[in-house]
Amino acid sequence: MAAFPQPPAQGHGPVDWSDQDRAEIAELMTHYPTQRAALLPILWLAQRKWGWLSFDVMRRVAQTVDLPPSEVYSVATFYTMLKKQPTGKYLIQVCHTLSCKLAGADRIVEHIKDRLGIEEGQTTPDGMFTLMRVECLASCGSAPMMQIDDDFFEQLTPESIDRILDGLAKGEPLPLPRPEVDKWTFQSLES
Ligand code: FES
Repeated sequence: MAAFPQPPAQGHGPVDWSDQDRAEIAELMTHYPTQRAALLPILWLAQRKWGWLSFDVMRRVAQTVDLPPSEVYSVATFYTMLKKQPTGKYLIQVCHTLSCKLAGADRIVEHIKDRLGIEEGQTTPDGMFTLMRVECLASCGSAPMMQIDDDFFEQLTPESIDRILDGLAKGEPLPLPRPEVDKWTFQSLES
């Protein structure tokens, strides 16, 4: 799997939470038995705030949950959903695990690479798109699929990818998941 490189030496510089962040963290912690157990949602919050998890951000999170920075680092580097380097405006993650692989994930990745003119792990020069291969995203019945930011796009074809990327390049918002996919999935389950 093409993994994110380790965090670059240059990061955000010293970072700190706002009062609103601190209130959100305090509320989050009420849902967990220990500060340590709240690490993942706080990393998620940090990513939302600062865009990606530099060493500076991980150090701030470590202080917040009273853990060694190395433990925060080990968790942050385990999950592909946590970004360890800046990405483009849209992060495209194509699943290449078994179901998607058999359904043509390699062809999907090659199509996106050709279309955007970048390799896996790279960002387009205009800062719009970053492309990654990732392991199973738990939508195996709708392979091949990809995730863009927080949304799934399933039963992909080169044509459907072009439609999505064309829209985003024109400044349109991410389209909703295609309704025919949901219909197909539910029909399959009911039959
Ligand atoms: S194998 Fe691709 S979502 Fe599971």
